[in-house]
Amino acid sequence: MAKRKKRVTRPANDAAPSLPPITPGLLSPPRRVPADIERPPYASTGDPGPSISDLRRTPDELSAMRRTGAKAAEILLRAGELVAPGITTDAIDEFVHQACIDAGGYPSPLNYRGFPKSVCTSVNEVICHGIPDSRPLADGDIINIDVTLFCEGVHGDTSTTFLVGDVDDASRRLVRETARSLDLAITAVKPGGLVNEIGKAIENHARQHRLGVVREFIGHGVGTEFHTNLQIPHYYERRLQTRIEPMMSFTIEPMLTLGEPHAALWDDDWTAVTIDGTRTAQFEHTLVMTDEGAERLTITAAGDCAHDHVAAMIA
Ligand code: MF3
Ligand code: CO
Ligand code: CO
Repeated sequence: MAKRKKRVTRPANDAAPSLPPITPGLLSPPRRVPADIERPPYASTGDPGPSISDLRRTPDELSAMRRTGAKAAEILLRAGELVAPGITTDAIDEFVHQACIDAGGYPSPLNYRGFPKSVCTSVNEVICHGIPDSRPLADGDIINIDVTLFCEGVHGDTSTTFLVGDVDDASRRLVRETARSLDLAITAVKPGGLVNEIGKAIENHARQHRLGVVREFIGHGVGTEFHTNLQIPHYYERRLQTRIEPMMSFTIEPMLTLGEPHAALWDDDWTAVTIDGTRTAQFEHTLVMTDEGAERLTITAAGDCAHDHVAAMIA
């Protein structure tokens, strides 16, 4: 007698299409940056050294960050237009690399602490810091593209999660609510207010939608350095009494998960994946605190960004 088929129990959340897990692909040869492009200090050594910069920007630095942020936003928008089944993450890297150079800047990820490529591409269960490789995007994937541009001596850091073709409802919900959590966090933080209002807003929103919040990776001060000593957790940290003063520049970049928000690292020492294999999404802007509130610097001259485009598409 044939064995009765075991009934498969679905996970508690509406979750996870059972597509094969992401596995490492092949890397293309290193890409070059023309000698006339200004490089950040770590470009040749890989070592950014200890952070020494002020947490606040000067007016001139802020002007530069507006221009660099707008260029980064433009590059991310264009990169998002490439997203479709069949394109490899390496082809996205090739595009972003050249677009940074064409904008007169350096792709900040390239050789930052030894990172081998010019953009981070994080697919499905990859939380962040995915390395572009030979894997073609598949119908139903979600992909975060994280662009950072170094131009005029400052960095602009921004990312959006894009849908690849026909994406399941659970993943769409994940992407939509992750984008909303960033919007809520941006409005939650006030000049002179506590940094922990950011994580509180994100965690509350995630809880309402039964999504996990990744704790191992956090937002950061950004300006003349890629990462400053300012730490921006995306969960509520009651004891964190740091305040955000006007002219401080920083990122908010929540990573939410359909399942458990715990991370494992691949052998490449970069690629962070959810341990339970469930999907995760991320959105990121570079911001400056003004007297009125946090203002997004990673928007185009026309005032738009990939984040708003994706949000409008799945509202
Ligand atoms: N852009 C990422 C961030 O949001 C940092 C990437 S570091 C890299 O902070 F080396 F992986 F590029
Ligand atoms: Co960042
Ligand atoms: Co980033």
